[in-house]
Amino acid sequence: MIRALTITIAERLEFYHQEHLLQGWENLPRDQQAAFAQELEHVDFDQLADLYAYQKSGRSANVETPAQKSLRAEPPASLVRQPQADADAAQWRGAHARGEQLLREGRVGAILVAGGQGTRLGFDHPKGMFPLGPVSNATLFQLLCEQLLARSRQAGQPIPYYIMTSDATHTETVEFFQQNHFFGLPASDVYFFQQGTMPAVDAQTGRLMLAGPGQLARSPDGHGGLLQALHQANLFDDMERRGIDFLYYHQVDNPQAIVVDPAFLGWHVQHGAEVSTKVVAKTSAEEKMGVVVDVDGVSQIIEYSDMPSEVAQRRNAVGELELWAGSTAIHVFSRDFLTRLAQAKWELPFHVAHKAVPYYDPQSGQTVTPEKPNAYKFERFIFDVLPEARKSLVVEANRKREYAPLKNATGANSPAEVKASLAELSRSWLESAGIPHSQETAVEISSLVALDASELASRLKQGLMPQKRPEGILYITQ
Ligand code: UTP
Repeated sequence: MIRALTITIAERLEFYHQEHLLQGWENLPRDQQAAFAQELEHVDFDQLADLYAYQKSGRSANVETPAQKSLRAEPPASLVRQPQADADAAQWRGAHARGEQLLREGRVGAILVAGGQGTRLGFDHPKGMFPLGPVSNATLFQLLCEQLLARSRQAGQPIPYYIMTSDATHTETVEFFQQNHFFGLPASDVYFFQQGTMPAVDAQTGRLMLAGPGQLARSPDGHGGLLQALHQANLFDDMERRGIDFLYYHQVDNPQAIVVDPAFLGWHVQHGAEVSTKVVAKTSAEEKMGVVVDVDGVSQIIEYSDMPSEVAQRRNAVGELELWAGSTAIHVFSRDFLTRLAQAKWELPFHVAHKAVPYYDPQSGQTVTPEKPNAYKFERFIFDVLPEARKSLVVEANRKREYAPLKNATGANSPAEVKASLAELSRSWLESAGIPHSQETAVEISSLVALDASELASRLKQGLMPQKRPEGILYITQ
């Protein structure tokens, strides 16, 4: 941009009505001035101004909004539902076997996105450090890593784990993994890479905000920051070198996700898809989940907040929600597909969130923590890659088995609810092995003991005994 090359920072800030950022500049130590100048140099003010204007007007010149699109939304057609009849079950077994073969061939890697700030949960550490094991108090990170380790042992192959962190979570996450010896995974198979950030803007004025003297208020750029972050860390090259063709993608907050689920991988490959998405039937029209729909024959996800209520409420002839397919945010990506997008420098669009963002007031020298939303944050969502795929697939998950996300401090999706769901899953496995427990007993089965009910049954036959603890009953390797 010629303008940016020929004018000073102060002029540039003035041009974009952002000159307030230089208040107190003269009081900054030299090195901080230099660092701040460099930071400002890299801010794309045009982009931020466009995003702000778009948010304020609620529309863009040429681009249809998700709300407008949702008026033409239909349920997804490229779909595999949960097995109903014996014939379906046989096909699911076939897909499972195909996925196991991919794992044995060492062609699968896993991506974990763990860069979110977890504001709703209100926990002072990265969400992955939250203790959730109903008996063991194992953290989310441990529960997920042990699943991956067990699956890798079964396959007899390493499964690299690509873990995305952010400014907000990186240092603590890496230290936590180191302290815990990577939860048994080989350190050389765990890659941490950091996503980017975006400045927050004041919702009233469109002005950028400060986090402290000489420091912009920034937040992670959304899980869609993944594409650029993988590319910048050269991880697509690493995947290619290792022969990784398929990437299982999941979020840090769902301990019941079946990590590198063989059946899901199998379906993805059997359908020749470039992206596959796991969905569950929404429990109500109001449930706060992105919805997988087809618009003009192309599968995509529309955020619940972008879908007008009358569209979300639509019912089919038998009275079921027409747009039923809630996204679990679990995907399989073909590596070639992501690499193609990254190399083409294809960019995910930004979504805007109205949030309470603390900011530094240079006049008072104080940090202000607002109680109400005061700022716009800009995030990319990884699911926006869906319409770019030549072929995509939607696979229905078993909701009780696979979906229990930790989002809130209390109520729905709270720690109490997720722990209860984990304990119930373990009890159901024991019950199918002929060892029922009362609902009052907390039960936990380590993934290193069994990854499903039938594996548990054979372990029990081999003489596996539980540990009794004050919190409940734990099946764990001795
Ligand atoms: P959420 O959208 O639920 O956000 O993230 P969050 O940060 O965990 O929680 P809130 O909204 O602030 O309460 C879903 C997943 O995407 C990851 C999160 O770590 C979580 O695994 N994520 C989110 C990122 O990796 N980076 C981001 O910028 C945002």
